[in-house]
Amino acid sequence: MVHLIIGAQWGDEGKGKIVDLLSQKADCVIRFHGGNNAGHTIINSCGKFPLHLVPAGIFNQKCQVFITNGVILDLGVLIKEIEMIERVLPDLSDRLFISPRAHVIMPYHKILDRLFEDAKGKAKTGTTGRGIGPTYADKVSYNGIRLFDFINPQMFKKKLEMILLLKNKMITAFGEKPLKLDEVYQEEFKKFKKIKHYVKDTFEPVMQAVKQNKKIICEGAQGTFLDNDWGTYPFVTGSNMVAGNINSGAGISPVHIKKITGIVKAYTTRVGGGPFPTEQLNQFGELLQKVGAEFGATTGRARRCGWLDLELLRFAVELNGFTELVITKLDVLDDFKAIKICHGYKLNGKKVKYIDCDAHSLSKVKPVYKIMKGWNSSIKNIKKFENLPKQAKTYLKEITDNLKIPISLISVGPERNQTIIC
Ligand code: GDP
Ligand code: IMO
Ligand code: MG
Repeated sequence: MVHLIIGAQWGDEGKGKIVDLLSQKADCVIRFHGGNNAGHTIINSCGKFPLHLVPAGIFNQKCQVFITNGVILDLGVLIKEIEMIERVLPDLSDRLFISPRAHVIMPYHKILDRLFEDAKGKAKTGTTGRGIGPTYADKVSYNGIRLFDFINPQMFKKKLEMILLLKNKMITAFGEKPLKLDEVYQEEFKKFKKIKHYVKDTFEPVMQAVKQNKKIICEGAQGTFLDNDWGTYPFVTGSNMVAGNINSGAGISPVHIKKITGIVKAYTTRVGGGPFPTEQLNQFGELLQKVGAEFGATTGRARRCGWLDLELLRFAVELNGFTELVITKLDVLDDFKAIKICHGYKLNGKKVKYIDCDAHSLSKVKPVYKIMKGWNSSIKNIKKFENLPKQAKTYLKEITDNLKIPISLISVGPERNQTIIC
């Protein structure tokens, strides 16, 4: 049974918590795109962990975890993350699989990410600075380095020499020092040796799990509106995270997908630049940021905050084919007297849809809001749907009535047990 978990907004919806929770009953968990731009916060009996690359299912010791070909890897970050996990769990070698087809984030990718951002000035994307865009760009333009390339050291060095020729031209054009072949080679190869034993084909074991009808969770990173094709381009990331990308990112054909869950934060946040129609640059935004502890798990940057946007969510539901939703961080709205919910947009007085807008016009739209009553009480310890305050149920009904798909879980706090099963 293949179950996809996809962010429905601009990332940080709480995917990590939900994947960790659902992984307790899973056989396999797969990360299939993105890199260490992701920060998935897990809080469980082992402690609190910000995971960037290793799938959240790692904490179920019966679970096999896969980092498949669609993911891009910073080997230094991967090593540190594995070491962090191995401080609380035994050796992961038997159950962590990393595809040799995964591309590697090289030192020059991080340098170029910074140089491009600096050069763009005010127009910058606001990337995480992890080298994501330049690495995916190299993948698409046939200049990438994959884990496969490390297997033959001589060939790896030759390839690196040729690529450094191209990259150093760019780096020096920006006035920075060129990278030295031997240094980059030695450093990256040293890192590769530390993770080499995890590098093994992922396609066949994943297929075997699919054929045996094992419970497989695919952990999306980022969110639908950061998707390179469907998001608010150019304020997006380098990968595709929409549901269909599971085929190219992990080799799982869409025919096997049985469930596609959209993770929706009860309000909206985004980190970095780009349009955000329901953003609240006022006391409401500040309150959401403070109560929701909206600071990035990867860069520590403050997340921009605003009201829930049903126009975006309607599009995300259709695009991904969500079969159900999980609503997270509902507790963050506990103290609001009134809560706004965006039903659509107007541009120059005329109704417009998300799909009609590029990033520039989306930055000009005016949201049309419905004002809902708040519940003004703590829901953090509520375990059953029927015990939620009436106004909270009305808020949730407004979402399901508009999106026309059911809510399967409601998260009312960061811990596993702060979850209501619907
Ligand atoms: P992800 O990138 O989608 O996995 O989300 P992040 O981990 O980056 O950000 C979500 C943050 O909200 C983390 O700090 C979680 O511990 C926290 N969180 C998750 N669910 C809830 C919830 O229902 N209520 C509250 N208050 N915090 C939550
Ligand atoms: P998780 O998986 C929130 C954003 C960055 C920036 C844009 C491009 O934790 O939800 P990049 O470094 O990818 O080139 O940056 O994408 N971004 C995220 N925002 N959550 C994430 O991941 C993100 N990953 C990238 O802030 O705006
Ligand atoms: Mg995150």
